[in-house]
Amino acid sequence: MTVYKREFFEDLLQKKYNNKSLKLNVRKDKMIFDEIKDEYTLVVFRPSFSVYFKRNLPFSKILVPCQRFEKSPWCCCILKKSCLNFTGTPELEVLGKRDSPFDYEKLKIKASKDYEIMKNMEECKNYEHRKRRNENAAFQAGRSDLTTQVIKTPEKLLNRLNKTFKFDHDPCPIKPDYDCMKSKWKGKMNYVNPPFKHSGAFALRAFEQSMKYSSKTVLIVPVSGMLTRWFQELVNSGGLHAIVFLRDGISFDGYKRKVPFCLNLLLIGPKKTGNAKIYFWDIIGEDMKRQIPTTHDDYPLPLKDIGW
Ligand SMILES: C[S@@+](CC[C@H](N)C(=O)[O-])C[C@H]1O[C@@H](n2cnc3c(N)ncnc32)[C@H](O)[C@@H]1O
Repeated sequence: MTVYKREFFEDLLQKKYNNKSLKLNVRKDKMIFDEIKDEYTLVVFRPSFSVYFKRNLPFSKILVPCQRFEKSPWCCCILKKSCLNFTGTPELEVLGKRDSPFDYEKLKIKASKDYEIMKNMEECKNYEHRKRRNENAAFQAGRSDLTTQVIKTPEKLLNRLNKTFKFDHDPCPIKPDYDCMKSKWKGKMNYVNPPFKHSGAFALRAFEQSMKYSSKTVLIVPVSGMLTRWFQELVNSGGLHAIVFLRDGISFDGYKRKVPFCLNLLLIGPKKTGNAKIYFWDIIGEDMKRQIPTTHDDYPLPLKDIGW
């Protein structure tokens, strides 16, 4: 932890809240309650650590910095002293503003280009080539190997999601015969497990479609997306209604191990005012290694509170 990082976050916070009593309290990924002496405490963490929150760390907000500090994978959450008794729903905000324009069209074009390759690609049934390499490493978000981008949602997970959301359309199925970057999304409640390499294009397309057709979309993506520019655009545009951290480790078909990163659901709908809400969900009940026991206590998801 360098001084610069502390100053980086504190500066952004001072600008936003104009509050001099903010104090940074960081112990890498560990948070220690009894050190909270000031009115506010800022905790800096990696997005993947979010799954631990709430149960052992009550907090009121996650603040996503609008730019990274030297490309470091950090965002932060803010704790008020009173927050130790905080039982409400935490919210998500973007910290700071970027001046440079954002090129959504460029993302769309890239996604369409890869669609042309993926539409003819069999779902990857032969996993031998992955076994030869480190199978987990081969399944990293954003990897250019497109065979890792056409993997089905595990049935158990999809069933659970479906029970809650009652999806009526999947704009990017296995072997699609249309490019959903160009065609209408037919559903009122869409489910999208996008090629993670193009999460941003799909998230913003979901927002675009929801504005046109008053539809809603649940997008499943890696939590690392929280630090990207497209995510900030989505949050700032009011299209993100809620973010749901999945506490379970998810294993995709054909892989022996669970994915080496955490996934979250982005609940995207027409522009709304107010911040996106944050939820946690033990959706399958299969715990990740190293993690506290799951109890299903957040299941089912309180959709009414989100207005869904
Ligand atoms: C990760 S897989 C998910 C498959 C399926 N939706 C599921 O959840 O089981 C992503 C799928 O999106 C498809 N896809 C990629 N780009 C697309 C596009 N522009 N339009 C429609 N489908 C697309 C790919 O062919 C791939 O099968």
